[in-house]
Amino acid sequence: MPDNWEWFIKNFELLSHIDLTAYKRPQMERRINSFMRSASVPDYKEFISLLKTDANLYRKFLDHITINVSEFFRNANHWEILEKQVIPGLLKNRSELKIWSAGCSTGEEPYSLAMMLKENRVNLTDKILATDLDQEVLAKAAQGIYTAKAAQGIPPAYLARYFTAQGENYQAKDELKNMIKFQRHDLLKDNFNKDFDLILCRNVVIYFTEETKSKLYRRFADAMRPGGVLFIGSTEQIFQARELGLKSVATFFYQKES
Ligand SMILES: C[S@@+](CC[C@H](N)C(=O)[O-])C[C@H]1O[C@@H](n2cnc3c(N)ncnc32)[C@H](O)[C@@H]1O
Repeated sequence: MPDNWEWFIKNFELLSHIDLTAYKRPQMERRINSFMRSASVPDYKEFISLLKTDANLYRKFLDHITINVSEFFRNANHWEILEKQVIPGLLKNRSELKIWSAGCSTGEEPYSLAMMLKENRVNLTDKILATDLDQEVLAKAAQGIYTAKAAQGIPPAYLARYFTAQGENYQAKDELKNMIKFQRHDLLKDNFNKDFDLILCRNVVIYFTEETKSKLYRRFADAMRPGGVLFIGSTEQIFQARELGLKSVATFFYQKES
C-alpha cells in the first residue's frame, strides 16, 4: 500500500536522507500529521510529491520536525557546574581540550562555551566542533547574529565583551566565531571523531527511540578519551551508564572511566 507510515518514512528518507525510524513514532507521527493538516495535504503520497517540488514547504517541514529551539547558557546552574567543577577537573590532566557540541542548532550552545572558555583562558587543541543535521540552522549559527530577546541569556559583561550591537540585534565578534567550526553531521549516520575531552549533546536525543539513544550514548562513550565528560540535557539520563564505562560526576555530567 503506497500511502502508509512505512511508505512515507521510506520515501522521505530517499528525499532527505533523514531516517525517521530512529525517532519516537507517536510523537513524530503526530507532528507530521498536524503539519499535513495545516498545509491541507490529504495523504502521504501527495505530501511526498509536494515536498519534492515545493522548496518552501520542504524547509518549513524540516523546521517543524527538527525542533531547533535553543538558548544561551541553557540551564545556567548546569553551566556553573561545567565552569567550576568539570572544566577545572579536565584541566588537571590536560593543558588543551578537544570539545564537540553535537546538535548545536542555531549556535547558542557553542557560543556560550566559547565565552566561558575565553573567560577562563582555557586552551583548545582545535576549534570547538559544532554540528547539526540541519544546514539552515548551521548557516544562522555561523552568522552569529541574535535578537535582543535571544541575547537576554548572555550575562551583560559577556555581551559587552564578545558581541557588537547591530540595530536591534547582537553580532558575535570574530574572536568568538574563530573558536568554532560549524559542520553538518547526522548523529545517526555519520562517523564520530575520537579523543574528545568534552562532548555536549543536550536536548537532541529526547526525540529518539530508546534503542537509538542507547546506541548513540555508546558511540559518544567511544568518542571520548578516558576521563572525558559527556554533558546532557536537563530532562535526560543515561540508564546504562555503568555498562558504557561512564560514571555520573554531577547530575547531567558523565565521565568516562580512566
Ligand atoms: C532542541 S535543539 C538543541 C540545541 C542545543 N543543543 C540546546 O540544548 O539548546 C535539537 C537539535 O538537534 C538536531 N538534530 C535532530 N536530529 C539530529 C541528528 N540525527 N543528527 C544531528 N542533529 C540532530 C536538530 O536539528 C536541532 O537543531
